Amino acid sequence: MKQASTSTSQLGVMNFLNEVSFQYPAAVSFASGRPREEFFDVAGWIESIARFCEHDASTRHEDAASSLRRLAQYGPTNGVINALVAEQIGCDEGVVCSPERLIVTTGCQEAIALSLQALCADRGDTVLALNPTYIGVTGAAIGAGIELQPLDSDPGASLPALLARKTGALREQGKRARAFYVIPEFDNPTGTVITLDDRRAILEFCASNEIAILEDNTYRMFRFEGDARPTLAELDEYGCVVYLHTYSKTLCPAVRVGCAVVPKTLFGDAAASRNLLASMSENKSFLTVNTSQFNQALVGGVLLAENGSLQRLTRPATGFYRANRDTLVECLETHFGSESEGVSWNRPEGGFFLTLELPFEFAAPEMMECASEYGAIVMPMSFFSLDGSYRNRVRFAYSNLSGDEIRRGIERFAAYARAKIAGAAPCIA
Ligand SMILES: Cc1ncc(COP(=O)(O)O)c(C=O)c1O
Repeated sequence: MKQASTSTSQLGVMNFLNEVSFQYPAAVSFASGRPREEFFDVAGWIESIARFCEHDASTRHEDAASSLRRLAQYGPTNGVINALVAEQIGCDEGVVCSPERLIVTTGCQEAIALSLQALCADRGDTVLALNPTYIGVTGAAIGAGIELQPLDSDPGASLPALLARKTGALREQGKRARAFYVIPEFDNPTGTVITLDDRRAILEFCASNEIAILEDNTYRMFRFEGDARPTLAELDEYGCVVYLHTYSKTLCPAVRVGCAVVPKTLFGDAAASRNLLASMSENKSFLTVNTSQFNQALVGGVLLAENGSLQRLTRPATGFYRANRDTLVECLETHFGSESEGVSWNRPEGGFFLTLELPFEFAAPEMMECASEYGAIVMPMSFFSLDGSYRNRVRFAYSNLSGDEIRRGIERFAAYARAKIAGAAPCIA
């Protein structure tokens, strides 16, 4: 089932994203969607561990020192901050759940891996994802030997029509779509948002075909304009959404705290939902045992300090990311404004990523050439593609750059692109 050659190259993308800036230290890197460090209140957040301990101690009628020692011990597999996390996702994301339906995970990455393993346990079970998609789900599926099937965007077809076409084709091959992984808000890598009508239609289709939806809403808190759409989990009347969540972008990646929330009844079956959570918990107990309780306490303490909502805390970062999106779009208009150049891009309403389409191929060799000779690192969209397609698109991550860096980076990228469009890529030295 493993797809040897593509899988090897796809598995390298995550490390590549983390390391490429070190290879070209003088280059401006639009490669990785890291949150901006100036918004990390590390010292303050570490102090919030004590706040969590006081809270924990008062609910257990013990002293804070005992609570702190308990954190240093092995802990319950499903987590110790479940009630606080449930409160936050209820408040900020409209995902109303009891703490018992939630498993605290080591980042969203573990939530993805555990959900896939639990849902796709039988031979022929496959997971669907939009193409291109987040490399983390590709890697998790490859690692577990689960087939990931791409849903290609087709301008003439609606999302539910694409789902119907793909599930029908799979059935003919004796395979079964068990899950559909989707990032409905400010998708990584494309930056797009799924419409409300499509959300409703996806839910209906998945419910009637018993396909669980893995809703990953990593970037939802970072909306720049327009009204927030309800999450699929909030709209779910059928019991088909497993909600995936993380504090990597709202706080910082080093906390490695996220969660998965199972529906109250999986397709109307309460026992099936309990079994799903039990299976994820069993797998976790051998994978990471439990998520670091120090890190959970840090997140829990911040949630206590913020009265259960991260809106206040994420507002300054959202303003920064919006300004960066504006700078990036302005620079693109300055350098590629003329339609004759055949370069086009979207204007994301939030999140960390923008997609650009080029009139020439931009894959690994072009990325290297642009980085080494022009000093701008840009990710080929084909790196996120499930079948190597989208070879003339690129992803710009604008979250961790200053305005000046964006201006400089786009000037360099534009010099490269213009040289390519003119039929050559001379070095600017
Ligand atoms: C869509 C998406 N999901 C999940 C993650 C990873 O989250 P975590 O750091 O919590 O594992 C990322 C990180 O970039 C992401 O873009």
